Amino acid sequence: EKAGYRHFMLKEIFEQPQAILNTVSGRIVPDTGVVDLPEIGLDPTIVERIERIALVACGTSWHAALIAKYWIEKWAGIPVEVDIASEFRYRRLLVNERVLTIAISQSGETADTLAGIRRAAQLGSRVVTVCNVVGSTMTREADGVIYTHAGPEIGVASTKAFTCQLAALFLLTIYLGQIRKTIDPLVQKKLGAALLECAEVIGTELPRLQAEISTLIERYYEAKDFLFVGRGLNFPVALEGALKLKEISYIHAEGYAAGELKHGPIALIDRDMPVVALAPRDSVYLKTVSNIEEIKARQGRLLLFGTSGDEHLSTLTEDVISLPEVHEDLNPLLYTIPAQLLAYEIANRRGCDVDQPRNLAKSVTVE
Ligand code: F6R
Repeated sequence: EKAGYRHFMLKEIFEQPQAILNTVSGRIVPDTGVVDLPEIGLDPTIVERIERIALVACGTSWHAALIAKYWIEKWAGIPVEVDIASEFRYRRLLVNERVLTIAISQSGETADTLAGIRRAAQLGSRVVTVCNVVGSTMTREADGVIYTHAGPEIGVASTKAFTCQLAALFLLTIYLGQIRKTIDPLVQKKLGAALLECAEVIGTELPRLQAEISTLIERYYEAKDFLFVGRGLNFPVALEGALKLKEISYIHAEGYAAGELKHGPIALIDRDMPVVALAPRDSVYLKTVSNIEEIKARQGRLLLFGTSGDEHLSTLTEDVISLPEVHEDLNPLLYTIPAQLLAYEIANRRGCDVDQPRNLAKSVTVE
């Protein structure tokens, strides 16, 4: 059942290219980028009238929501609020019929997320769920669904469900822009093609990434703490990298927006603490590099994920994982892969039970 892989988690990491394709295909016309989401349950007139979107989720799914905020605000021009479900459900909610609530959940059963959408629905909000499990409670209660077609995810640490959530949320972004006419058709075509291309690139790069990371971890697996940093779309990827590492290897790890370092966490930097920095050549690249230089100046141990051919990164550390250039908006899908592999290889090297980490359950049906 593990198809020759040592763990479900590794199998599921390698299934990502196909899972992303399964999530995207049939929903986008490759030649035009036109998106159809037949199960979304929203009339175009409702989509036109939405004033705000509330994204609600827990854990890894919350990280997907943080990324979707950047996309939706950029391409559909709709203000997006992102909430951890356990916070959303217990405060005064300024949600009404002009707010679209979107719950993101692999299982469709997470207690806090479910309670969140129930409250939002009571206040008159339309509810859509991005979900991986057909027929789950959230899909039954929501007005509409965007299924991720990741296939069953057995490993407790979410991998393919996350990248498929991103693919689904990117489709949703294009869809919203298409209906509200905020995306130029040529750009739309480019974004659609970029999404399909990204899945292909992940497929090509996976074996090399695993090989490179498995040699690299000899120098990292004994660390007691890790910091992950990134900017913009890659800030949530830093959070996700830190979460993956802590949940399966039990190493303390934190994710930070790179620009926040000097507001506190830079005090932690020393020779012993690895800092994983996500530094693709994107619109905030120079800012990220200047943060990386600040870490280096304080003798920080740097592991960089950056764009192939970026010579500058190699002058900062020996440990650089190179990734091909994809459309800047899709970097989160690609940069998540080495972060997953890093967590997997380190946990494995430390002899941890990768698929069944202590204290965790796959589906959190109690609050
Ligand atoms: C982390 C992980 C959890 C889940 C969270 C939400 O790897 O798996 O953080 O993402 O419990 O679960 P769902 O998406 O099923 O609502």
